[in-house]
Amino acid sequence: MSNLGKILTSKKSCKSVWFMRQAGRYLPEFRKIRLLNKDFIKLCLNSHLSSEITLQPIKRFNLDSAIIFSDILMVPYALGQKITFIKDQGPKLSRFDQELFLDNDEKSFTEKLNPVYKAIELTRKKLDRNKSLISFVGAPWTLIIYMLNFKKNEKNLYEGKFLENKYDLNKILNILVKFLNIHIDNQIKSGADVVQIFDSWAGLLPNKNIKNFCYIPNAKIVDFCKKKKIPNICFPKGIKKKFKEFNEIVRPDGINIDTEISPSWAKKNLKDVVIQGGMDPKALLKPEGQMLEIAAKYTETFQDIPYVFNLGHGLLPETDPDKVQKLINFYRNF
Ligand code: CP3
Repeated sequence: MSNLGKILTSKKSCKSVWFMRQAGRYLPEFRKIRLLNKDFIKLCLNSHLSSEITLQPIKRFNLDSAIIFSDILMVPYALGQKITFIKDQGPKLSRFDQELFLDNDEKSFTEKLNPVYKAIELTRKKLDRNKSLISFVGAPWTLIIYMLNFKKNEKNLYEGKFLENKYDLNKILNILVKFLNIHIDNQIKSGADVVQIFDSWAGLLPNKNIKNFCYIPNAKIVDFCKKKKIPNICFPKGIKKKFKEFNEIVRPDGINIDTEISPSWAKKNLKDVVIQGGMDPKALLKPEGQMLEIAAKYTETFQDIPYVFNLGHGLLPETDPDKVQKLINFYRNF
């Protein structure tokens, strides 16, 4: 079993480091490929290039885990929405059509995502046995934010008004859970050995809705992983002290903390779970000494419990790859 898989299943301490968005724009070797491949979704569907990009940070830094180069929006794509990326504006999805959405079937969903599964197969063959190949999905709520273009109406979200919209959100949530579980299962069958569930917009949920839209759907996915013995990590970003309640209800193998959670609070309050990440990706933009001082808070706090070194969100595009190397060296020599 891979290093990360072992930590998550046996809850044993062992050094392990990888970074969210480790395969991406801060790497010149990625930008070179990206320049020649303007259509991001097409790039994600190019199994050979996707595998090559996945392995770029492993070749450069010898990280302990690779995360497959893909995107959480590949699921809405496979469920029928068109995805475009407008430079500096992020993703834009074609209008959500509930009738078409409800009409999706497992066979065509899996067929559309076959290039992702092929990329995982290719990558597994080239990756050392002791290194983990991490697969991932977006949690249902975070996908709904993009699918229904909810970000635009952020104010309504805070006031809980989104519940009055014309869609049957509970039905959409449940169907997403079903297809996300299929996507996880397919990725694991292709050679991935861990799954991370990104709920990047969980922090937008009002208190009274967080159980229904965040805890319950994440728990359904984690339960599926447990039934299938798939090591899993949740990332309910932005929910502050509710990380504790999330952990107690959802019971994932691992939990990635964000930059708002202090390491000592996490250590005291998040029990029976492997803690991952937390350090601010902006720390990598500071001078080396300051960056390492911040890193030391995490390595010192977590030195006597199982901990996976990572960040509180993805590496920023303006990060200098040499800083990433220095951070890894610091962690490995600690
Ligand atoms: O290296 C890795 O982490 C693996 C690949 C990966 C990507 N996206 C590649 C990508 C992963 C795990 C993701 C997850 C993802 N995608 C999330 C959850 C994590 C998070 O960041 O909160 C979300 C919300 C998305 C949706 C998404 N994809 C957005 C908002 C954007 C545009 C802005 C941005 O953050 O980059 C993307 C594009 C995207 N996904 C890029 C990459 C490398 C940039 C593509 C480019 O412009 O070259």
